[in-house]
Order: sequence, then structure tokens, then C-alpha cells
Amino acid sequence: MNITVVGTGYVGLVTGTCLSDIGHNVTCVDVDESKIKMLRSGKSPIYEEGIEAIIEKNIHAERLHFTTSLKDVLPKSEVVIIAVGTPSDKEGKADLQYVKAVATEIGQHLDHEIIVVDKSTVPVGTAQMVEGIIKKQYNGSVEVVSCPEFLREGTAVADFFQPDRIVVGTRTKKAADIMNNVFEPIKCPKVNTTVESAEMIKYASNAFLATKISFINEIANICERVGADIEEVAYGMGLDSRIGKKFLRAGLGYGGSCFPKDVRALSQIAGTNGYDFQLLKGVIAVNNDQRKFLVQKIDKALGGIHGKKVAILGLAFKDNTDDVRESAALDIIPMLQKAGVESIDAYDPEATENALKVVSSINTYTDPYAMIEGNDIVVIATEWREFKNLDWKKIKSLMKQPIVIDGRNLLDKKYMEDLGFTYTGIGRTNGKGSASLSKKSNPKK
Ligand code: UDX
Repeated sequence: MNITVVGTGYVGLVTGTCLSDIGHNVTCVDVDESKIKMLRSGKSPIYEEGIEAIIEKNIHAERLHFTTSLKDVLPKSEVVIIAVGTPSDKEGKADLQYVKAVATEIGQHLDHEIIVVDKSTVPVGTAQMVEGIIKKQYNGSVEVVSCPEFLREGTAVADFFQPDRIVVGTRTKKAADIMNNVFEPIKCPKVNTTVESAEMIKYASNAFLATKISFINEIANICERVGADIEEVAYGMGLDSRIGKKFLRAGLGYGGSCFPKDVRALSQIAGTNGYDFQLLKGVIAVNNDQRKFLVQKIDKALGGIHGKKVAILGLAFKDNTDDVRESAALDIIPMLQKAGVESIDAYDPEATENALKVVSSINTYTDPYAMIEGNDIVVIATEWREFKNLDWKKIKSLMKQPIVIDGRNLLDKKYMEDLGFTYTGIGRTNGKGSASLSKKSNPKK
């Protein structure tokens, strides 16, 4: 099918590229000329594992095109996917200005029957609003459907080809059949539902995952007070199939372009519809506090932050991405600066350039060892696998004092203490390793 995707961010670019890879003729549209120029050369403006190879392959197969002009490509489109950003506004509401702008432009230039797809995360009722905007200028047949994305940054390509489910919300069976045809090659449960339910599935899923993270972080904070070890507690909890072991990693809390904004938006949507979503307010508060608690740990470990030199490993909001949106690492930097830290040195495998657009007066490095040398403490703020495999024996010799604050529980506490580090994690105490033992005693696990 001839498909147009508007927006070449983390969602739009992966969606458009992968749709061309399953055989559709796709044109990705973006207003940013420099992005389009880069994409036409086969290069990706975002860091996403494996995406450039798929871009190049499908440009070569003449199935994938890039343009700044929606007007030019609309006449031959059968499906137009809206994948533009929906950032939070100051009250936490989803800002739909970019979605509305695309809807207006579609209405201006549409001359035939088409399916318009809301892939951006939007409040319940947005599809109806988008259809209204289009129909103000176009009185032909058009249906706006909801097809929320569940892509995780860093694994978005894999998530596209092996999703847990594809959710499609439509008003008519005809539109559902067309959407099922678009995704036919992707073998997974297809949820055909109403538009409102599809829009709610997205918000509810992200809000639940964020709730799981804040829950395990509160359990970790209690573990520290009662002498339990969160790694063993999370392991024991996760074996219950009703709980599941995923998203039970305690740490600095969630960041990124989705969880924070979607949780705020859902709380806001509930409020404007006369419902006080109390649980979600707690999820947000806990997530904010995790950053503050980490700075308190740094302060305690140093005997005061003022005048000290801090090394930070990780600036991205999570591993395998260059995205720093609402990154916990970038939240703690101003807190340290406010507390009078003498200097902050930082290293991230991919996100340094983006981080420097947000924070100032930090020293960044391309080599983690050089970055750590001479510092009073090293703080792990992002769960890059690379940090687990650093030569920590060498690091100990480079530091003024061997103190590590592991904000992502990435390192083995006992190993670090045996090396002579003062190790502080999140909810870590001297677990007896029984969890690892039970793993061994149940090899099939
Ligand atoms: C999320 C959803 O997973 C995805 O389905 C949706 O489409 C977009 O939002 P993403 O934000 O890319 O994806 O990353 P994710 O892997 O979900 O992690 C989100 C945040 O939670 C990160 O800051 C991560 O560090 C944190 N996290 C994740 C935890 O703190 N603990 C965990 O156990 C898992």
C-alpha cells in the first residue's frame, strides 16, 4: 500500500522505515529539511540500533522516500500516519498543536478517500477532533483511526517486528480491515477495538509500567530501612506470573519522552473528566523523589557535596539511546551544582551531544577512565551495559577515594566491596545471594 508517515522522530522514522521493509511504499514527511536531506543519504538523525541498514536497504529498493512536502505526496497516499510529538504543556496536558497542524494540512490538500492514523500518543477523543479538523476543509470520505505505538527506544526496530500486540481502534470494519492489511506480515495478536479504547490502552499501559517502576522504587527505599535486598525481593516477586519479572528494576526512576508525559497527561485527562487519579499522583511524586534521594546518598557518602568533584557515568534517560529527555542524570546535575559541587565530569556512549544542549558547566569526555580520574566519587545514572564491564580495579586506582553510587543497581555489590569500594546502590543491603542460589537450584528458570 501507499503509506505516508508524518514525523521522522523516534516513532515516525522507525514506523515508516519498517513498514517499507514489510513491503509497503512509504514516504516519510518532516518539516526539518536537514533531517530529510540526511535521511535521503541513508543516515539516521537518531541513534536507533539497526535503523540505518533498513533505511539504506529500502531506499535502494525504492520503497522508502523522504520529503518535506505532505502536499506533494498526499494525492497518492492510501494511509497517512500522524507520528508527530505530543509534548507536555505547563499543566501536564498533551500539547496537540503539531497533531492539529498536520490535520489542517491534510484537510487542505485531501482530494480522495483515505485512512488517517493517530500513532502519536494522544488523549481519548483526539481522533474525533482530528477528523473534525479535516472535514472542515474536505467533505469527502475520511476516517481517523487510533493505532498507538509501543516502541521502546533502543529496541524500537525489534519492537516493531516482534510486538506483543498491535492495537487498532476504528469506527468501521472497513477501516479495521485496511489496518489489519497494513500490518498483515507482522504475526502477533491484533486488537481491533473502538478508537476510545485504543487511545486508552496506550495511556493505561504506559501509566501501569510507570506505576510498576515507582512501586519497586518505594519497596527498595523500604528495603534499605529493614535490611532486605531489593534485587532478591524483585527476583522473588517476579517469579509470580501475575507480577512478572520485567519493569521491577529499582533505580533512579523513569525518564524519557513517554512515561513522564503520558503519566502527567493521563492524570490530567482523569481530572478534566471529574476523576481524581490518586494513584498516579503518587507515581509521579515517587519518581521525582528518587532523584532527590540519590543526591542525598551522594551527600552522605562524601560527607557533604560542597567543594567535591563528582564523576557521572551516563547522561541518557536509559541505555541504548542518545535521548536525554527527562533523564534522571540531567535532573541530578543541577541539584549537585546547587549543593556547591566543585566540578562534574560526565561520560555517556551516545548522549553527550544532546545532554550539552540541556545542561551547562559540566566537563564531558569520550573516555570513561579519563573522566573518572581524580574524582571524589563516581555515580552511575544510566544503565549502559558498558559500565558493568569497565575495569573497576583500574578505576579504583584512578579515584581520589573509591566511592561509587550505583543509581541503576548495575554492579555486583559484593564484587565492588571486595575490590575495596564503598558501594551504595538503591535498596541494596547485604543480601545473602539466596536469589542467585535459587536460580542455580532451578536451572530451568
Ligand atoms: C516506553 C514504553 O516501554 C514503550 O512501550 C512506549 O511506546 C514508549 O515508552 P521507553 O520510554 O523508550 O519506552 O523506555 P523503557 O524501556 O520503557 O524505559 C522507560 C524508563 O523507565 C527509563 O528511564 C528506564 O531507565 C526506566 N526503567 C525501566 C526503570 O527504571 N526500571 C525498569 O525496570 C524499567
